[in-house]
Amino acid sequence: MPDLFAASRETEGLSDGAFLFPGFAEGQARALLAAVEGIAAAAPFRHLVTPGGHTMSVAMTNCGEAGWVSDRRGYRYDGLDPETGKPWPKMPETFFTVSARAAQTAGYENFVPDVCLINRYVPGAKLHLHIDRDEHRFDAPIVSVSLGLSAVFMWGGLERTDKPARYRVHHGDVVVFGGPSRRRYHGVSPLKPGTHPATGACRLNLTFRKALP
Ligand code: SIN
Ligand code: FE2
Repeated sequence: MPDLFAASRETEGLSDGAFLFPGFAEGQARALLAAVEGIAAAAPFRHLVTPGGHTMSVAMTNCGEAGWVSDRRGYRYDGLDPETGKPWPKMPETFFTVSARAAQTAGYENFVPDVCLINRYVPGAKLHLHIDRDEHRFDAPIVSVSLGLSAVFMWGGLERTDKPARYRVHHGDVVVFGGPSRRRYHGVSPLKPGTHPATGACRLNLTFRKALP
């Protein structure tokens, strides 16, 4: 499908060490989505509960050596899927290649993620401003791939109270943030209803991290 936005969409520098690459993963989108289907068959999407007792509106699953999970005890990376008691599905080869290529384009060499958190947003689902801070290391960037319905990505500062900038992220867009931007606040505004040829009535987001020691 032609990208109607492509002409007006160029790489955006979000802040020092953070970039939005429009359409960067569009060519791999089908392969990524097929892989997500396989992962979700083994490790189903679920709505995690926060330590404060709220059920998240975003549904999540993971692949890789560990998965990001949350429950009343806190947030953490777990080598086993608490739903199934089994290890998370393996990270598919395409996940490694796409994320490493995006990281390299942003200036981060040799990015090898060990975890991919997969977020599924239906209309109304949102992610509050937060910092990715449960990882053991902060020297590696975060690589975030958007698939399906477009969303508004909020890019904040180093303090929660910093007013976030808003960027529309579309199918195939990739955001990379590392270095001095690694601990910036970010989030996603409530998803607007719609349908996308690749995903139907939802948005998927793949977040690649180097989380383990
Ligand atoms: C995240 O911060 O984990 C996900 C961001 C997104 O869905 O774009
Ligand atoms: Fe995040």
